Amino acid sequence: MSILEVSGLSVRSATSTPVRDVSFTLPAGERLGIIGESGSGKSLTSLAAMGLLPDGLTASGSIRLDGQEVVGAADASLRKLRGPVAQIVFQEPLTALDPLMRVGRQIAEPLRRHLRLRGRALADAVAAALAEVALPDPRVARAFPHELSGGQRQRVAIAVALAAQPRLLIADEPTTALDVTVQDGVLTLLERLVRERGMTLLFISHDLAVVARMVQRIIVMRDGVVVEEGEVLGVLREPQHPYTASLVASARALDAALDAAGHGEGGTA
Ligand SMILES: Nc1ncnc2c1ncn2[C@@H]1O[C@H](COP(=O)(O)OP(=O)(O)OP(=O)(O)O)[C@@H](O)[C@H]1O
Ligand SMILES: [Mg+2]
Repeated sequence: MSILEVSGLSVRSATSTPVRDVSFTLPAGERLGIIGESGSGKSLTSLAAMGLLPDGLTASGSIRLDGQEVVGAADASLRKLRGPVAQIVFQEPLTALDPLMRVGRQIAEPLRRHLRLRGRALADAVAAALAEVALPDPRVARAFPHELSGGQRQRVAIAVALAAQPRLLIADEPTTALDVTVQDGVLTLLERLVRERGMTLLFISHDLAVVARMVQRIIVMRDGVVVEEGEVLGVLREPQHPYTASLVASARALDAALDAAGHGEGGTA
């Protein structure tokens, strides 16, 4: 069964239609990437899937999340899906974290609400959640978000998102705001958690190499529409759309430049 089924999704503002007629399905256990340049509609598509479009934007078409229609659904019924069914990790972890609440409490909140943990069991689960995202130092739980590094904050945001044990994780450019070495650690962590928990993953990025590493299948968006879809390796080897071909070519050019400079780590294809 598909955990996420998007068909004919359009997102409109008063003056424009930034997402037009987007369709894709995401079977449980699969990892799907959305790639496309800035402004192509990747984030709006993922926000629409969670019923989280900002004010002033409306969705039409159909989005079925775990079989339930999201387009036009009341917020109360969507809230039940957010957490145990689907969670989202954003590019900038500060948007997801409460600046005035200690990290431990922010992780405890979903554990209390969704898993109904209390007392010692709750404290142990918070410690385990932090250890799972490679933050075993108990001082992290007592810290406020601004006292942590960007990479640590994103690990905390991942721990908060995973606390309710979602079956679908949507990661919208989760490492774009981090520097390259930190980025690699967070991607490795995400990869491991998705595998160990058997989660379904919708991974969004403008970086072809990052997406290729994380998912099996990709859709390519441009100017609000899907221009290509397929297995990652197939798309990289034989891009069908000129825009995809240009993405692949620029990734190759970067690899070649890195190789020439002696920093190469192999090609993307
Ligand atoms: N609240 C909004 N109201 C009106 N238009 C918006 C709103 N948010 C985004 N848009 C427009 O929708 C288009 C798609 O935005 P979206 O954020 O989905 O792009 P994206 O592919 O995620 O880009 P990026 O890679 O920069 O994150 C953009 O042209 C943007 O200007
Ligand atoms: Mg975006």
